[in-house]
Amino acid sequence: MLPSKVESLWMATTPETNFPELDRHIETDVAIVGGGIAGLNVAFLLKRKGLKVVVIDSTYIAAGTSGNTTAKITSQHHLKYAFLKNSIDKKKAQIYADSNQWAIKEYEKIIKKENIGCDFHHMPSYVYATTKNGFDDIKKEFEVTRELNLPSSIIYSADNLSLDIFGAIRFDSQAYFHPRKYLLAIAGKINTDGCYIFEKTTATDIQETEESCKIITDKKNIKAKYVIIATNFPFYSKEIFSSQIRQELSYVFAVRLNTKIPEGMFIGLNDQDLSFRPHVSGKKAWMTVGAIHHFLDEKYTAQVDYEQLYRYATKIFDIKSVDYKWAAQDSYAKDRLPYIGFMPKSKRVLVTTGYSAWGMTTSLVSAKLLSDLITGKKNEWESLYSPSRIKKANNKNVPRAGKGGEKMDLKPNEGKIVEENGEKLAVYKDESGKVTAVSAICTHMGCTVGWNNKDKTWDCPCHGSRYDKTGKVIHGPAVKNLSKKEIEL
Ligand SMILES: Cc1cc2nc3c(=O)[nH]c(=O)nc-3n(C[C@H](O)[C@H](O)[C@H](O)COP(=O)(O)OP(=O)(O)OC[C@H]3O[C@@H](n4cnc5c(N)ncnc54)[C@H](O)[C@@H]3O)c2cc1C
Ligand code: FES
Repeated sequence: MLPSKVESLWMATTPETNFPELDRHIETDVAIVGGGIAGLNVAFLLKRKGLKVVVIDSTYIAAGTSGNTTAKITSQHHLKYAFLKNSIDKKKAQIYADSNQWAIKEYEKIIKKENIGCDFHHMPSYVYATTKNGFDDIKKEFEVTRELNLPSSIIYSADNLSLDIFGAIRFDSQAYFHPRKYLLAIAGKINTDGCYIFEKTTATDIQETEESCKIITDKKNIKAKYVIIATNFPFYSKEIFSSQIRQELSYVFAVRLNTKIPEGMFIGLNDQDLSFRPHVSGKKAWMTVGAIHHFLDEKYTAQVDYEQLYRYATKIFDIKSVDYKWAAQDSYAKDRLPYIGFMPKSKRVLVTTGYSAWGMTTSLVSAKLLSDLITGKKNEWESLYSPSRIKKANNKNVPRAGKGGEKMDLKPNEGKIVEENGEKLAVYKDESGKVTAVSAICTHMGCTVGWNNKDKTWDCPCHGSRYDKTGKVIHGPAVKNLSKKEIEL
C-alpha cells in the first residue's frame, strides 16, 4: 500500500519553519534569493566571513527541492569524469573532482564544529551496471577516476542485493545526512546578529547600479551590495538560462524492508534502474528508493506514477511498508555542469544553478566559490563553473506546448485547457462542481501549461514552473500567478 499523503521523510520528521515575511525595507551586504541548500550554505559561509546577509524565500526555507532530495553527499555524480575529461579536458575534470571531494570533507567539519545532529554517516557510493555495455562504460569511468586520484574501485557483485549486476564503480568515504536537520540548524545560525531570513517573500525583479542592487519583492525591497540568485531555476535573466537548463522531475519512496537494508548508496545506469540508500536515524532505519526522471511534458501523466516506481522497487526489494512518497524537480544543465558565479556582464548579481541532481556537494562548492568571489579571494574553481561560458542565449529549443481547444467535459477534481475567444484558459472543476478559470499562459516565458492529474497542478513543460489548481505559483522559475479569468459555462 502506498501512503496517500505526498510528503518526504525529511519534511515529516522535522518541525515546520515560521520565519517572518519581509515587512520593512532593509539594507545588507549580500541578499540571497532562495532558501534551499544553495542559498543557506552560501549565507552560512558569508556570515562566517563577517558579512551581513539576508535570505528570502517565496515559500518556506528547506522545503523546495532540498526538502525533497535523497541527500547522498558524494563526488560520484553518476558517470561524469570520463565525460568531463573528453568533453572539456583533464584539468577541468580534476577541478570537478577536487571541489566535490572538498565539499564532503567540509560538511563533516561544519557538522562537527557546529555540533549539528543531522544523521550524518559515512558510506561508500556505487554506480551499478545491469548490462555488459553499461559495465564497459563503468570501466572507462574507472580509468579516468584513477587518473584524478578519486577513491574509486571496481566491484563485480553486490552483497545483500537480489540484483544481477555486471559490476559497479565504488567511491569510498562518501556520506549521507538528513538534509532538513542540517539546513534548519544552519538557518538558526544565520538568522542572528543583524542577519535575517524572511519567508513568504517572492523576489520579482532586481535593479542593478554600479554601487548596489535593489531586490524588488512582493512585500518590501532589499538594498544590497551583492545579490545571489539561488532559486534553483533562476527567476531573473530568464532568457540567458532558458535554453541551457531544464527542470526534471523524479520520484522517491522511504521504505522499510523485511530484509537487511543494503550497506551502500547505489544508483543504476539505466532509466529503470533505481537509486537507493539507507537512512539510519537513531533506532529507526529506512531506505530511500527513487527512479524515473522526466520533464514536465505530455508524457508525464501517461508514463509516470508512483505505482510504476513501486513495481520497479518490488522487483529488487522485499518491501515491508512504504512510509513516505514524494516527488521533486531539479535543474539540469545541458553541459552537465553547474553555473556558479557572476551573471554574464554583471558585477553585483551572482547565480548558482544547474546542479543536475547532485546539489548536496555542488551547493557547498558553490557557497565557497561565491563567497570567495564576493570577498575578492582567488578561487581556481571559477573557470570551470563560470556562467560566462553561456554562449549567446537562444531559445530555439523552448517548446511551445499545448494545443488548447478541448471540449469542457470536465469531471470533478480535474482540469483542462480550453480555448475561449482565442484565449487559452486553464479550467479546473472542484469536488463540489465549482469551476475556476485562469490564463493557461505561463507567466515565466509564455508557454502553455498542462494539467497534471496526479498532483492536481498546472505544470509548464518549458522550464518546469508549477501552479496549484487556482493558478498560484508553487514552483519557479515563474514568480507571478496565472491571472484569473471569467468563463462562460
Ligand atoms: C528526487 C531528488 C533526489 C535528489 N537526490 C540527490 C542526492 O542524493 N544527492 C545530491 O547531491 N543531490 C540530489 N538531488 C539534487 C539536490 O536535491 C538539488 O540539486 C538541490 O536540493 C537544489 O537546491 P537549491 O537550493 O538549488 O533548490 P531549492 O531547494 O528548490 O531552493 C530554492 C528555493 O528558492 C525559492 N524561490 C524560488 N523562486 C523564488 C523567488 N522568486 N523569490 C524567493 N524565493 C524563491 C524556492 O521557494 C526554494 O525554497 C536530488 C534531487 C531530486 C529532485
Ligand atoms: S515558460 Fe518557462 S516555466 Fe513556463
